[in-house]
Amino acid sequence: MTNIFNASWIKPSRQKKDVGVDFIKSFSLKPFPVKAVLEISALGVYDCKINGRPVTESVLNPGWTDYNKRIQYQTFDVTDLIAAENTITVGTGLGWRFHRWYDLSSKITAPHTTAVIAALTVTYENGEEVTVYTDESWVSAENQVRYNHMYNGETIDFNFRPGKPVPVTVIPYTKDTLIPQEGELITEQEAFRGKELIITPEGDTVIDFGQEITGYLSFYVKGKKGDRITVTHFEKLTKEGNVYTENLRSAKQKLTVISDGKSRFVKPVYTFYGFRYIKIEGMEISSPDEILAIVVHSDMKRTGHFSCSDPMINQLFRNIIWGQKGNFLDVPTDCPQRDERLGWTGDAQVFCKVASYNFNVEKFFKKWMGDLRAMQKPSGYVPSFVPARFDEGGGSSAWADIATVLPWQMYLTYGNRELLAENYQLMKKWVDFMRKWALKKKPDEGISTNPYLYEGHWHFGDWLALDLPDKEAVGGATEKDLIGCAFFYYSTSLLIKASEVLGIECQYYKNLLKNIKKAFIARFIDENGRMYCNTQTACVLALHFGIYNDKKPLAEQLTALVRESGHLTTGFVGTPYLLHVLSDIGENELAYDLLLRDEFPSWCYPITQGATTMWERWNGYKPDGTFATPDMNSFNHYAYGAVGDWIYEKMCGIRQKEGTAGFTELIFSPIVSDRFTFAEASIDTANGRVSSRWEKTENGYLYTFTVPENTRAVAVLGDKTFTLNIGINKIEL
Ligand code: BGC
Repeated sequence: MTNIFNASWIKPSRQKKDVGVDFIKSFSLKPFPVKAVLEISALGVYDCKINGRPVTESVLNPGWTDYNKRIQYQTFDVTDLIAAENTITVGTGLGWRFHRWYDLSSKITAPHTTAVIAALTVTYENGEEVTVYTDESWVSAENQVRYNHMYNGETIDFNFRPGKPVPVTVIPYTKDTLIPQEGELITEQEAFRGKELIITPEGDTVIDFGQEITGYLSFYVKGKKGDRITVTHFEKLTKEGNVYTENLRSAKQKLTVISDGKSRFVKPVYTFYGFRYIKIEGMEISSPDEILAIVVHSDMKRTGHFSCSDPMINQLFRNIIWGQKGNFLDVPTDCPQRDERLGWTGDAQVFCKVASYNFNVEKFFKKWMGDLRAMQKPSGYVPSFVPARFDEGGGSSAWADIATVLPWQMYLTYGNRELLAENYQLMKKWVDFMRKWALKKKPDEGISTNPYLYEGHWHFGDWLALDLPDKEAVGGATEKDLIGCAFFYYSTSLLIKASEVLGIECQYYKNLLKNIKKAFIARFIDENGRMYCNTQTACVLALHFGIYNDKKPLAEQLTALVRESGHLTTGFVGTPYLLHVLSDIGENELAYDLLLRDEFPSWCYPITQGATTMWERWNGYKPDGTFATPDMNSFNHYAYGAVGDWIYEKMCGIRQKEGTAGFTELIFSPIVSDRFTFAEASIDTANGRVSSRWEKTENGYLYTFTVPENTRAVAVLGDKTFTLNIGINKIEL
């Protein structure tokens, strides 16, 4: 049923800036309806009730897309909610519609306003159907949300009484962009009661929830009529134990409630907050558990689990999971708190593999790949974040390469050829874009190794790497041309693999790949086979992508660099592959040194500082108790959590056979170390649960591998290979 296309977009004839608005329609039904289905969408976010009862448990609908190109509508079975006399109320707030970086205002819909479209179709016992459409017979009224803003939060005034409803206006806003819900709906997932009540040295009342989350609060306000209760959501306390909000930049992250003197239940509906702590003003709190923090994210099913004998690595894994929970709200965002919360392509590019092991994200990313396709320019250029306004910048290596990396990874994890085919042009157009620039720059010299550092486009480089003298500098020491050329190679190699899976002729790209390799080696590798650019990331990229003549000198260069510094120095670009490369060159213990290190800089250092999520920067909060620059310092950024895929694939050894997809052919090959007494991981695949465990015994190791139905598997342990059976396999060595 798709009646929504016959409905009209409506907006209030008068609407105050930033105020919550209800769209209302009352109607009668004759006996006896047997089915009622609601299709609905909004410009803004909506919260719909029929006869006072919510039509869905999901929140923040219709989600976030480039509304100029596509906008999801949702379909709900509301049979149980209808009666003879009915009122449908659609509350609306701005949501992602008005966003610092993304302002969908047009002549038809002014900024700071909302609009709705809906069709409620009722079927009677005799098969007759009637549909209630949004049209000029609806009315609108302001609601008690007196201010709402994605970053700043909400103000709810319980004293506010809507006056006489005002008429609505039908607007000629397009319906061509309406698409059925593609992603997972966003739902409330779990809740934390306040854990600790703190009075800070500066005298603020603070509650610590013990976990950084993305979501909102729910609690009962107490107070006298007119009391103003203000809650500020934030991530960290200062060294002295005071409230720290500078890193939120312009985002206020506040919830303000004006009491009418009665005990009232409060829960914001038009936005979300990223926080572990809250500061409360204007209300007495006697116990922290009076306040509940509700976690919301896209309703992805958890598929991956891990544990080992080291509590620090277990916490690291938990932080990776929480990084994903906190940033997968319809769009994969960089962070959930400051005035950004954007679908940064580079962050998703590095994290999508582990994300697909942790949770089933096939549907989530199918939807976002639709957003990527919608926003890819005809030239193939991909913006830096999606959704976004065009011409905001884009085409950066390792960011725009989301166009190839994500479809390929989704294919590897889920084995879905159709999804790969759906995104083949996205991949191809991006590679063609790079090829065009590579050839254009220096046509006489074959491939330019400066493939697309062209005017007006910004390259992020090895973002937040620590290999420049200034540890707060953002771009890292690895040459941007090198990163660009390496990713040109990598993306082309993925396009070739995808072409082969789909049976598409790709000889041209095979030749191109050879030429890129030649050009890369000629420019970036010296006569001794070492990178001119002496950084960990430079070596890691060449090794991981396989762009060298001889692996050995690069491996030596990399291990020397790691040993000299004693730690990683990589940023967003090199970090995801660093441990993979170390284990691929046989430096497993060095990989474990880096994984287990807990001094700055390392994956575990934040844990020594109480982190419950992944940090954006290695030095977000420094050993001396000072913060990195508040300009860019989030404590809930999943990118460095990419190390999780090494934990599944190498530490626990769950790997797919090269050339296969969807976990149908496995090679179990864990990397044991006597620094652990056991480690285990599992991934729920389409065929069932795959799991791998190793534990120390008196004389060696006991391995336990679980192989689900319809899956072929071997275990490669040292120089021995074992063919495994379906079910549980135990091997003692
Ligand atoms: C974001 C990132 C993003 C970066 C671009 C930052 O402001 O938070 O994670 O990838 O900009 O390099």
